[in-house]
Amino acid sequence: MGSLNAMSGKICAVTGATSGIGKATALALARQGATLILICRNRQKGEDAVRELQAASPNSAIDLLVADLSSQQQVRAAATNINHRYDRLHVLVNNAGAMFPKRMESVDGIEMTLAVNHLAPFLLTNLLLDKMKATSAARIININSDAHEQGKIDFDDLQMQRHYPRGVGMRAYANAKLANLLTVYELARRLHGSNVTVNALHPGYVATNIITFEGASGPVRLLKPFWPMAKPFILTPEKGAITPIYLACSPRVASISGMYFEKCAPIASSPVSCDKAVQLRMWGASERLTGGSAG
Ligand SMILES: NC(=O)c1ccc[n+]([C@@H]2O[C@H](COP(=O)([O-])OP(=O)(O)OC[C@H]3O[C@@H](n4cnc5c(N)ncnc54)[C@H](OP(=O)(O)O)[C@@H]3O)[C@@H](O)[C@H]2O)c1
Repeated sequence: MGSLNAMSGKICAVTGATSGIGKATALALARQGATLILICRNRQKGEDAVRELQAASPNSAIDLLVADLSSQQQVRAAATNINHRYDRLHVLVNNAGAMFPKRMESVDGIEMTLAVNHLAPFLLTNLLLDKMKATSAARIININSDAHEQGKIDFDDLQMQRHYPRGVGMRAYANAKLANLLTVYELARRLHGSNVTVNALHPGYVATNIITFEGASGPVRLLKPFWPMAKPFILTPEKGAITPIYLACSPRVASISGMYFEKCAPIASSPVSCDKAVQLRMWGASERLTGGSAG
């Protein structure tokens, strides 16, 4: 997808590029001539991804930054690194995501699903915003999910301390994706009139590593033996990457911001995600949970 060298001269950062949608997105950007910054938590996997991308796209410039994005200190270090080493940043793809069947906390004492799926991209984006504003035109792309439609945010229990349902961690994941979408819309308003756009997307149901059923509890764990059989019938990572690649590269969306996409087209997200008061409240809560440095 996209013409050869269409992204030549563009610097693009992709989080979670070691597998799934992130790796497929990074590969497509490399093939179109982008300079890539891969932000990965596991050095070995990151180096394997760099080798794989370079084999498929030999002229690519690819930089690896190792950061476990569940740690705010590591998010900050990754952002500092990019801010020092690059004079511009054209594209940031906030892709890294994970599900946690049992409630866990990050090194910062934050519920892991919220830390990885929402607070990490929120903080990283805000720390890179000045760099992106100093770039002629820049795009932020957040891989969200239609799971956000199931999200029900309790501002008195954002970290689900009172009740973390059994299963694969879907309720916490839905809440974190909703939290992130709310702040994407708020950020778009804050960036109005600037050279930076921000959009979110649902990639479809994609056969990746995100659901493993490891540690799952309750009836849902009975689905584990059937999962490998279902995988061939859902999207490949390459197909799941089509919308993020479109949002990163296409001239058609150069000035589109604050939208939610599926299959390369804007669609409506859940009613609560469009509530400006909730967006603002989530922005404030996210700032507090990331040390108040954002925005
Ligand atoms: N697959 C779907 O059907 C689907 C549907 C809707 C939305 N999404 C979203 O798509 C995005 C990509 O997921 P995927 O389906 O491609 O899953 P995946 O294959 O599991 O890829 C997730 C990526 O995120 C990385 N990651 C996880 N936790 C991290 C952390 N703490 N720090 C840094 N990197 C971390 C993983 O690194 P490791 O390789 O080290 O684990 C991996 O590179 C996620 O945001 C997900 O929520 C997926």
